[in-house]
Amino acid sequence: MSFIIAGTGSCAAQTNIDNTFFEKIIDTSDKWITTRTGIKNRTFLTDESLTDIATKSAIAALEEACISADELDFIICATLQGDYIMPSLSCMIQKNIGAHCPAVDINAACTGFLYALDIADSYFKSDKVRNILIVCADNMSKFLDFSDRSTCILFGDGAGAVVLKNGNSLKYINITAHGDKEILYIKGTQHKLPFIEKSMQEKDDNYLKMDGQKVFKFAVSTVTEDIKRALSDSNIDSSLIKYFILHQANQRILECSQDFLKEVPEKFPKNLNNLGNTSAASIPILLDELNKTKKIKKGDLILLSAFGGGMTSGTAIIEWSY
Ligand code: COA
Repeated sequence: MSFIIAGTGSCAAQTNIDNTFFEKIIDTSDKWITTRTGIKNRTFLTDESLTDIATKSAIAALEEACISADELDFIICATLQGDYIMPSLSCMIQKNIGAHCPAVDINAACTGFLYALDIADSYFKSDKVRNILIVCADNMSKFLDFSDRSTCILFGDGAGAVVLKNGNSLKYINITAHGDKEILYIKGTQHKLPFIEKSMQEKDDNYLKMDGQKVFKFAVSTVTEDIKRALSDSNIDSSLIKYFILHQANQRILECSQDFLKEVPEKFPKNLNNLGNTSAASIPILLDELNKTKKIKKGDLILLSAFGGGMTSGTAIIEWSY
């Protein structure tokens, strides 16, 4: 016995930042950003915290699943970093919603949702839990160098959540990691230490760094390989998949996967044009949008696939259950 998705929730950050904002601060244009990425707008946290929007998405998912926070057996939160290093974001959410179960943060960058589902699957299979809350939330804007035009235009802040209950919706899941810190990374902060010579301490630069072309190539090859393997290992023909819900990084990456599968664009829903790349939150936010607009129905098969820093990737096939 594994899980069913019993409720979804999401919350974008409240401040809209469209491409014209970047035209004012760096050498770029709405045309360049739209053509190369598909992104027109993103939302950034200003007055609210990551914990606030993560909590709102959790409450929405709990309401839809018709369970109280007290009935949760585990909270898994996928994030690069919460508002505090300690307590974890999952513990902050646990307190805010009034839950009493164990809570842990995981970091698999943009693949966080797939990693969280895989961990949850093991818990359900071991009969340790009846209900799990997964919250994926990232505050990407705090890692961005707003003078680096090749990265700052890509990301947004947001949170998405699902409540999982016992059931048999999961048809396939696989996660991977290819340890590589060269093409996509954010260095951790390190205060000056009195016992290390100043000359040995590296210059502080904790902004996100990326080799865009190499990440693009990794994304296209990994996502297409992962999808091919998922369909073949699960013995499910791609024609039976209602939606390919892919990590929302770049419109051109979605199109490459679509061409590879010879599928129609309608089967590749997107929200990156409005929200940018919201890291771990991107798939659960899109899932919530499809669910709330009743585009997914009971019995539909959906394929989720993500890639991200690490480098990590993950793919799942789920039958919608309500
Ligand atoms: N506005 C205008 N010009 C820009 C720009 C911007 N915002 N960003 C980069 N450029 C310039 C570059 O400086 C370069 O100029 P040059 O030819 O004079 O050197 C030119 O555009 C082409 O740059 P390039 O990096 O080849 O563009 P690209 O087509 O690869 O697009 C990305 C860049 C970042 C959009 C693309 O590589 C990408 O999306 N990669 C994947 C990133 C990703 O998914 N990251 C998240 C992983 S979870």
